Amino acid sequence: MARFHRLRVAAVDRLTDDSVALTLTVPPHLAEEYRYVPGQHLALRRVADGEDIRRTYSICSPAPDGEAPSTLRVGVRLVEGGAFSTYALKEIGLGDELEVMTPAGRFTLPPAPGRYAAIVGGSGITPVLSIVSTLLAREPAARFCLIRSDRTTASTMFLEEVADLKDRYPERLQLVTVLSREEQQAGLPSGRLDQERLTGLLPVLLPVEQVDGWFLCGPYGLVEGAERALRGLGVARSRIHQEIFHVDAGTATAATVPAPAHSTVTARLDGRGGTWPVQDGESLLDTVLRNRPDAPYACKGGVCGTCRAFLVSGEVRMDRNFALESEETEAGYVLACQSHPVTERVELDFDR
Ligand code: FES
Repeated sequence: MARFHRLRVAAVDRLTDDSVALTLTVPPHLAEEYRYVPGQHLALRRVADGEDIRRTYSICSPAPDGEAPSTLRVGVRLVEGGAFSTYALKEIGLGDELEVMTPAGRFTLPPAPGRYAAIVGGSGITPVLSIVSTLLAREPAARFCLIRSDRTTASTMFLEEVADLKDRYPERLQLVTVLSREEQQAGLPSGRLDQERLTGLLPVLLPVEQVDGWFLCGPYGLVEGAERALRGLGVARSRIHQEIFHVDAGTATAATVPAPAHSTVTARLDGRGGTWPVQDGESLLDTVLRNRPDAPYACKGGVCGTCRAFLVSGEVRMDRNFALESEETEAGYVLACQSHPVTERVELDFDR
């Protein structure tokens, strides 16, 4: 199960005016717990004024081959008014200790031969940087097409890292940068990447039908538009992987189903179980957290997937789900932070 440990900050690198990369040292006795697959993220926690603030940030460094990691590097972009990102950009310094959850997330690509592509917006480059750099280093026959969009060159995160990859693998990495608020050299696209533009652009860039996996990451609008473009071009849903950063409150919530007057949740967590009454309107995660503060979560917004649990029995409705793939929901997984009971008894297993 995901756990927090205190890790020391080994470097703070300014990437743009509003973003940094934090490098964290993993002591040898914790290295196995922090082994990660390219594309995974870490939840960082800060308790300030009695409030537990958690945010997830993707790991941008390549995954070490075979060994457990001795460092982890994450990218953090400032979100206006963001409680954690403001602290990260303005206060975190060398030698500080941060509470860091063990890696989680299923927006991943374990290195494998084949042809892959990503469409990313803004800080959506972060997990994809780990995916591309690990893949190209480990799989000599793999190819990757990276389509990234940002506002301007100055606001683009990991500009140098991506340019270095392009220099190192000129034949196997195809890089297309689209800037929405800056004129580019002739021939390069500019403006926003929406469904219509992608539908026209993708077949010109690469043989769409030969791509083994598509990785879409960024704001909701970009990921949704890219998915619709790919589906329109005949790409199977199973080849599309997506991770959304920032979803506006109220986006695509499920219809309300009347809740039973009294319901209980039984949860198994780290080998131990318990049964507790669900209070009116609260999510199953909140019920579990009142009794087991160690229950895993980060965003509480249906985006990060940290609270994923297996629904052993009963029925729930989820307000929204931007984290689980359809195969996972069909297999019986739910997001506890978005789940409300539909039946009087619900049983969840966080250990599966
Ligand atoms: S805590 Fe992030 S999806 Fe539930």
